[in-house]
Amino acid sequence: MPYYSDETIEQVRQSTDIVQLISGFVNLKRKGSNYFGLCPFHNEKTSSFSVSENKQMYYCFGCHATGNVYTFLMKHENMSFMEAVQYLAEKAGIKLPQADESEEAKRIRGRRERLYLVNTEAAKYFYKALRSPQGELGLKYFKGRELSEETMQKFGLGYSLQYSDDMTKYLQKKGFTIEELTAAGVSSYDERYGARDKFYNRVMFPIMNGSGKVIGFGGRVMGEGEPKYLNTSETEIFEKRKNLFGLNLARSSRARNFILCEGYMDVISLHQAGFDQAMASLGTAFTSDQAMILKRFGREVLLAYDSDGAGVNAALRALSILRACGMSGRVINMQPYKDPDEFIKNLGAEEYEERLKKAENGFMFEVRILRKDYDFSDPASKTAFYNEVAKKLCVFEEEMERENYIEAVSEEYGIPKEALKKQVISLVLKGGVKLPETGAENAAGRHTAQPRSEDNDKYAQRVLLTWLSEEPQKYKGISEFISADDFTDPIYHKVAVRMLHDMEEGQPNPAAIINMFEDADEQQQAGQVFHTKLDAIVTDEEKEKAFRDIVLKVKQERFDHDNKAAEGGLSLEEKLAQKRLMEDLRRRIRP
Ligand code: CTP
Ligand code: MN
Repeated sequence: MPYYSDETIEQVRQSTDIVQLISGFVNLKRKGSNYFGLCPFHNEKTSSFSVSENKQMYYCFGCHATGNVYTFLMKHENMSFMEAVQYLAEKAGIKLPQADESEEAKRIRGRRERLYLVNTEAAKYFYKALRSPQGELGLKYFKGRELSEETMQKFGLGYSLQYSDDMTKYLQKKGFTIEELTAAGVSSYDERYGARDKFYNRVMFPIMNGSGKVIGFGGRVMGEGEPKYLNTSETEIFEKRKNLFGLNLARSSRARNFILCEGYMDVISLHQAGFDQAMASLGTAFTSDQAMILKRFGREVLLAYDSDGAGVNAALRALSILRACGMSGRVINMQPYKDPDEFIKNLGAEEYEERLKKAENGFMFEVRILRKDYDFSDPASKTAFYNEVAKKLCVFEEEMERENYIEAVSEEYGIPKEALKKQVISLVLKGGVKLPETGAENAAGRHTAQPRSEDNDKYAQRVLLTWLSEEPQKYKGISEFISADDFTDPIYHKVAVRMLHDMEEGQPNPAAIINMFEDADEQQQAGQVFHTKLDAIVTDEEKEKAFRDIVLKVKQERFDHDNKAAEGGLSLEEKLAQKRLMEDLRRRIRP
């Protein structure tokens, strides 16, 4: 349901050079006819990310991420397909025709816009309420926490009144339906009481997405009460694990780092003290989705988590997620205070700046915390600690880096360096140490070449398409037997329709074929077709035979597929026809 015509989308793509585009994000070096750099989609130390000028596609030999200029922007910059088209059109100076939006796309977009609008109107309501006579309690609270009027405005802070349905009624009058209000998470509905406000008697923190649209709220109770913070539940536009409180502001900070905090108030008081690079995850632990968002900015991440036990544990988790996503974090020491807010109130912004500079390397922080579980006066405990440290050091795959950490750790804990090194090397050689498991798996795992779910028949379809794209002349020999309908996988089918058509007239155009998909993951799967390594599957001598086998396999599986799909099975005649066709095929495509 493209909302620009295929021609327009293809014209924009052709006016963009993929090497130039990606160079803006990844440092690329020419090697032969391709360009190589560090893959932005997974964590690596050696360059396996290639960009092909000819194909106008990128491909990572490590994580198999692939696609064209659109896929790159969608995956790397989190753009939608349409946003990617618009972005590149503007860069290329192409004026886009009036968008021809499909009904479905219009509906979804309209729906999301409505939900943003509900949130914006609710935020305005809370904002006004804070300044109304009934909002006195909230205003007093914020003043008690020493927030300036300017800060309150910058974050759009507000207050939800003590009524039970005042805001719901107000928004209904503005034309929103109860369904919209509950879907946006600002009202709740039950049979007995009808629609009611979700938040009341709380100071309100609007939560914005990266581009500054209000998507939800956090509300802090006045005085004691449970829960202390009430947050909007997940909605169509509010995904906690993919958003960060304060990112809309922090992204344009001139600082070279981000400060990742635990809470709303931490972020706000840091901004007020001049640290406009502060942000926080949303009432949940830091996620790999959030890590991947931060990674794109290429800035260092400093953790400002509470210095209590829970804060330390949260910091350890965040560090391992950062590491799995290819980033290293540092930890800010806020002792003797609990959080940034307290620290700055007591010691001031300058002292905090000092602490930023002195933030501890994430790995050294982890080792220091680990050390607390061991008693060095007991030789057995001491040995156990050394062993644990050696295990941890195995996460560094690159020798130089590992050496540096071995040196730092042995110095800090008085471990004989050579002994520690030996131990690490023997563990690495044994290969028995697994990298730490984290939730980050999904972030990288999305890009695997052969999705675990891809079963054998789909695999044959993919190999055949790859083959035809590399040796289009082979199509002649089989065009009589093979048609797009033999590709039963929906994505490969769509690719085949276009590719077989292109081949009738000449060469297939991989990067253009990818345009046909709007979803980045689908583009990715379509892109795989042009990157299956055939020489890994067959040697030259085996090639002809293998080609024949693959064609037969695709055809046979097509028949099996039809059999399964036909209600009550195929008739005897149809089965016989299939059998004849297969025999014919076997005879005609000779190895
Ligand atoms: N949080 C939450 N729900 C709770 C408690 C906490 O969502 N019941 C989230 C909020 O995002 C909060 C963060 O966890 O900002 C940190 O919690 P906490 O340290 O308790 O809150 P502070 O931000 O320090 O709040 P305050 O200073 O107002 O006590
Ligand atoms: Mn706190």
